[in-house]
Amino acid sequence: MPQIAAQIKPLVRAVHPRLPRGSGDPSQMQPAALGKLRQNSEPAMTASAPTRITLPRPDDWHVHLRDGAMLQAVLPETARDFGRAIIMPNLVPPVVTTADAVAYRDRILAALPQGADFAPLMTLYLTETTDPDDLAAGFASGLIQAVKLYPAGATTNSASGVRDFDKVRPVLERMAEIGLTLCVHGEVTDSDIDIFDREAVFIDRVLDPIRKATPGLRVTMEHVTTKNAVDYVRANDDDLAASITTHHLMINRNHLLVGGIKPHYYCLPVAKREEHRLALVEAATSGDKRFFLGTDSAPHTDPNKLSECGCAGVFSATNTMACLAHVFEAEGALDKLAGFASENGPAHYKLPVNQATITLEKQTDPAPFPAQIQTGEGPVTLFNPGYPLMWRVV
Ligand code: NCD
Ligand code: ZN
Repeated sequence: MPQIAAQIKPLVRAVHPRLPRGSGDPSQMQPAALGKLRQNSEPAMTASAPTRITLPRPDDWHVHLRDGAMLQAVLPETARDFGRAIIMPNLVPPVVTTADAVAYRDRILAALPQGADFAPLMTLYLTETTDPDDLAAGFASGLIQAVKLYPAGATTNSASGVRDFDKVRPVLERMAEIGLTLCVHGEVTDSDIDIFDREAVFIDRVLDPIRKATPGLRVTMEHVTTKNAVDYVRANDDDLAASITTHHLMINRNHLLVGGIKPHYYCLPVAKREEHRLALVEAATSGDKRFFLGTDSAPHTDPNKLSECGCAGVFSATNTMACLAHVFEAEGALDKLAGFASENGPAHYKLPVNQATITLEKQTDPAPFPAQIQTGEGPVTLFNPGYPLMWRVV
């Protein structure tokens, strides 16, 4: 398996021979314009810094496992380190009824490697014709853990999403009544709203009105990417929480766009300015229970990413825990990693923390992650933060 460092460093030197080692490279994964990020990313090496930590087995509160050959290939990557995951329902066609979710859950269980310690938590895709009784029955049976709201057209496979929010009001009211969580892809889709503003505008125009009209509705703002979202969560009560992805803690929009476009950093919501990334890191490492991990690991094959109209999605299931250890260590907050990855999510979803544990160890050599995983549909490139990852799940 090629090591990330081995792949990146020769490229850095080949393209920018005058760049000092480790200063980053705009044409590759580590733009020089982000010297500040690079410094922030260098873990402080002090004699007392822990080099081994044990956490309750983490959960992933937002993952795309897909179906068929792709499911077969990516599920083991999630099941290796995670005890449970909220499974996104944006298949084609989407998972809209409890019967669809039962069938999808069974396909996931059938694809699990033998002996895996992993439970899928199923979601329903909210449409304008969702039946409140079906959803309530799915929740009562213990199968359905959340309902996913995609504004129509916001992201990959969201064509069946909601256009007219008044049409889903009865469903939302029922959810508030029974305590079923609404997971929200928080971006407006209006063509006149700039893509970098779509999350902030969604909060004002859609989310806040929905929450005010539906008191008691439990909401997860998924994969938040802005300081606006962090501030909105902080300004509200415990019915509202937010998941944060691995990659949004590590990249900003310069990483995506400076020195050449990096299709493997393109996802939705798109990475924002550095000030927003810093707000996410602060929220994730603060210990505030309302912020937890949702990787949004979203595999697309390389041909689909590296195309004239490339798909949105970052695949990070394989190395998320190594990435998070890096980020939390750099903040001097390794003691907050268990909260973010293992405890705050279950608290929001009113589930117990996993009893099993995982241990992360800091290595003297970069942890060997593959550049890609092979799937029956083609290769899928793994998220590469652009610097070596020294932590490994042992
Ligand atoms: C997701 C996908 O590929 O399904 N893509 C992404 O960029 N995050 C959809 C989503 O969660 O928005
Ligand atoms: Zn997603």
